[in-house]
Amino acid sequence: MQDTSPILSPVITPRPLPYTVAHRGLSAHAPENTLAAVKAAHRVGCQWVELDVQLLGDGTPVIWHDNGVRRCSDSRGKLAKLNLAKAKALDVGTWFSADFQGERMATLAEMLELLNELDMGLNLELKVNRGRDAQALVDAALPMTLGALPAERLIVSSFNSQALKAARGLEPDAQRLRLGILYEKPTRQWHEEAERLEAYSLHVDWRRLKEKRAREIKDAGYRLLCYTANDPVAFARLWPWGVDSVISDDPSLFEHHLPDSSQQRI
Ligand code: G3P
Ligand code: MG
Repeated sequence: MQDTSPILSPVITPRPLPYTVAHRGLSAHAPENTLAAVKAAHRVGCQWVELDVQLLGDGTPVIWHDNGVRRCSDSRGKLAKLNLAKAKALDVGTWFSADFQGERMATLAEMLELLNELDMGLNLELKVNRGRDAQALVDAALPMTLGALPAERLIVSSFNSQALKAARGLEPDAQRLRLGILYEKPTRQWHEEAERLEAYSLHVDWRRLKEKRAREIKDAGYRLLCYTANDPVAFARLWPWGVDSVISDDPSLFEHHLPDSSQQRI
């Protein structure tokens, strides 16, 4: 008798997160945290970027990592002393390479627009540097971000527990706002904190992550992201622990070092 049962083709379920996330954009090849760095990440095939957000002195949320502008611009001084006009007057590209001369500091609004144009995912790190106000940052940055990106293309993370608490306070729906807790090394209280915040993910310094802790995090149902790794060979021992994604300055380095590279390039 002829077999009339349907032919079963393997179902490939898309992963909720790619294996790699470009740290500060493609920061190995473009000035970190700029529109150029995100475009560069997109060009090499990255689907997600990690970016830092802070407030200027006039309350504008901008994509920037440091407390000051010295390292990544042609000027010096504190970010909190700048208004938007002054921030936009800085050249934030030449410090990296003459190819990026004239690059301007990106506002969060400009960055969200670009991410939508490119259909990319964002891990937005709420960067609360010394002396800065976590609540003010959340109030200015979060509604705009939630309004721009769908839940499945956004994780909001922070090292700062006040910022995470304020974010959850502003958006109590854990499906709508995926929160990531950043740790240099997960504390013994990680699970308590994750439950309290209804967190989605833990983001851990890969050099300080132990297999036992990684498996605990995964067994408890959380996503596990590791930052900032640029050595795919050394990182290879972590994938079998259940790590979901690596945050890297140069995700292309991981191209042939992923757990299932036949289905996803980076
Ligand atoms: O979000 C991961 C990583 O960006 C945290 O450290 O200093 O690069 O912002 P940092
Ligand atoms: Mg960061």
